[in-house]
Amino acid sequence: MKKFLMTLAFSLTALPAFASSEAHLEKVQVDTSPAALERGMDIVTSNCTGCHALKYIHYRDLLGMGVSKKKVDEMRGDKNMDATLVSAMPDDAAMSAFGKVPPDLSLMFNAREGRGNYTYTYLTAFYKKPDGSLDNHVFPGVKMPDALGYSEAADDKQRADIKAQAKDVVSFLAWAADPHEQERLLFGKYIMGYLVLLTGMLYVLKKKIWARLD
Ligand code: HEC
Repeated sequence: MKKFLMTLAFSLTALPAFASSEAHLEKVQVDTSPAALERGMDIVTSNCTGCHALKYIHYRDLLGMGVSKKKVDEMRGDKNMDATLVSAMPDDAAMSAFGKVPPDLSLMFNAREGRGNYTYTYLTAFYKKPDGSLDNHVFPGVKMPDALGYSEAADDKQRADIKAQAKDVVSFLAWAADPHEQERLLFGKYIMGYLVLLTGMLYVLKKKIWARLD
């Protein structure tokens, strides 16, 4: 009983803490359509990989995501299909520019509490302080520049455009965190189909055997 009460007390104190850390994150619905994934990929590979790597994503995986062979060939240039998406910025250059190496983005979708909501809000939480310096509401003292330019947006229309870009980026990062999910789902369906078939066959077999016993 004592243990139960302690657990209860603990969860009651833990709950509000969880709620408040989630509270300031904006919710985003991941878009799994091929078009959204490709738009997100375009932004990530033309902007974010200027500083970040995605070391678990190979060019070959992008074919699996639905990007055309022609486009993947253009993107990789003379790199191998099995090469991974690297950062354009060497680690030591990043160290002297930011004092740290930008984190790998392959698993970022799951790496922060709030998952996609975190990255979405983070990308659209840059703002200019009164002294003109840049900061971020969810990451005060951030060292990353405002990659999508949210703090520079002139009006609501531009802000909405940037939010749409952030959503595409997050959708791509959700895919990147688990690029083989679709294959697994398909495999699961085959297994289910096989099991249904097997059950049917065993049922027929059982009927036959019991018919002989009757
Ligand atoms: C000019 C270099 C640069 C570009 C371009 C850039 N980043 Fe970053 N990013 C950084 C640095 C540096 C950090 C580390 C920030 C810190 O710890 O203060 C970072 C951190 C992050 C983080 C982690 C924040 C955290 O909670 O630790 C995410 C997520 C992220 N970047 C996403 C992106 C995405 C998505 C893009 C493209 C839209 C992008 N970044 C473009 C340099 C960059």
